[in-house]
Parts: sequence; structure tokens; C-alpha cells
Amino acid sequence: MSLGASARLRGERVLLRPWRDDDLAPFAAMNADPEVMRHFVAPLTREQSDAFAQRARLQVEQAGFGLWALELPQLRFAGFVGLSAVPFVLPVPDLAPDPHEIGWRLARAAWGQGYASEAARLALRHAWDVLRRPQIVSFTARGNQASQAVMRRIGLARRAEFDHPRIAEGHPLRPHVLYAIEAPGARATVVGS
Ligand SMILES: CC(C)(COP(=O)(O)OP(=O)(O)OC[C@H]1O[C@@H](n2cnc3c(N)ncnc32)[C@H](O)[C@@H]1OP(=O)(O)O)[C@@H](O)C(=O)NCCC(=O)NCCS
Repeated sequence: MSLGASARLRGERVLLRPWRDDDLAPFAAMNADPEVMRHFVAPLTREQSDAFAQRARLQVEQAGFGLWALELPQLRFAGFVGLSAVPFVLPVPDLAPDPHEIGWRLARAAWGQGYASEAARLALRHAWDVLRRPQIVSFTARGNQASQAVMRRIGLARRAEFDHPRIAEGHPLRPHVLYAIEAPGARATVVGS
């Protein structure tokens, strides 16, 4: 795996790759799908979707990692999976500084086939082997069982509950759960100490 702007991660069935112009339309379609966006405050408009893709695209191109576009054999664009810095202070104690989050959003046609977990394992390996992160976190609305199942499948464990600081008080999506995992070396140290 190479460092740098062209970093792409290939698994048995999945490819995490930089974004392309022709990803924007299918991305907007999935971001407008109420079922895909059930655990978010609202679906995204085309403009919001394009802006999100543009941020993800720049991050991947400039840093060599980020929320990669997900390509499957039968679907040239199936959503995103990847790593990003958490843009606010997580109100949870005992986390490593500057935590990076692993996350995913797939089009419905790609659900139920193990693609999110396979791609997330690639991203997690990148976090350990290339980025040398000490810890990776992931969080979602308390009711988002599908996303929490992915977190558990790739080895994260539930650490805390917190209220999302950017969601209004009283909103049903405000209660969140936080999962985390330590880098393999750090885990070995803890076990061996
Ligand atoms: C979260 C999300 C990515 C999970 O998708 P998913 O399809 O459930 O997860 P995976 O791709 O890992 O697939 C796992 C399922 O595929 C099944 N599967 C079928 N074939 C498989 C195979 N060859 N290998 C592995 N699993 C397979 C598994 O048994 C599992 O099914 P189950 O949930 O009935 O037990 C998806 O629901 C989504 O995009 N939601 C909307 C966006 C969202 O909420 N994102 C997270 C916000 S924090």
C-alpha cells in the first residue's frame, strides 16, 4: 500500500478509491433516500451532497486518506467508507487526543452483503499500519443498530453514551453511542502489562 495522494485500498470484493465527478449524481441520490438517512437529522439536498463529496474528495486527494468512494464489482459507486477527524470535542472521557472516526454510508442496493464491514476493515488497517493512529472511534445515533453491528464486526467495543453537541436538545437523534478500538500494539501492551 502506498502513502500519498493516490492511496486506494483494495479488498477481495471492494475498492476504496478517490472520488470522481460521476460519483456526485449517485451520491446525491443516496443522500436524498429517506431510508439511508433515517438516522440523520435530514436527507441532503443536491447542493449539500455535492459539498460533502467535495470535502471528502479534497481530503482523500490531499492527505491520501479520508472518506473514500466505495466501488463494488457490480456498482461503480456504492457510497463511502473511511476515516475522518472528529470536527468537535467528543464529550467522552479517556479518549486519545485528536480522535479519528471510522464511518460509512452505503446505497441501499449495497446493504446486507458484508461490503461495509469488508471495506471498514481495510480502512481500519490503514489507520494502524499507515497512519499509526493509537485509537479509532465511531459513533452513531443510539437507534442505528446496523451501523453499531458494523462497528462490532470490525472489533470496536461500546464505550459510552453521549448527547451529540450539534443536535438540538430533545431531538430523538441526539442520544448517541460511542464505540472505540485501540491499535493492535497498544492492545498487546495492555494485555501484557
Ligand atoms: C450502516 C450500513 C453501512 C450497514 O450496512 P450493512 O449492509 O448492514 O452492513 P455490511 O455491509 O457489513 O453487511 C452485513 C450484513 O450482510 C450479510 N452478508 C451477506 N453476505 C455476506 C458476505 N458474503 N460476507 C459478509 N456478510 C454478508 C451479513 O450477514 C449481515 O447481515 P445482517 O445484518 O442481517 O446480519 C448501512 O445500513 C447504511 O449505509 N446505513 C445508512 C447510513 C448510516 O446509517 N451510516 C452510519 C452512520 S454513523
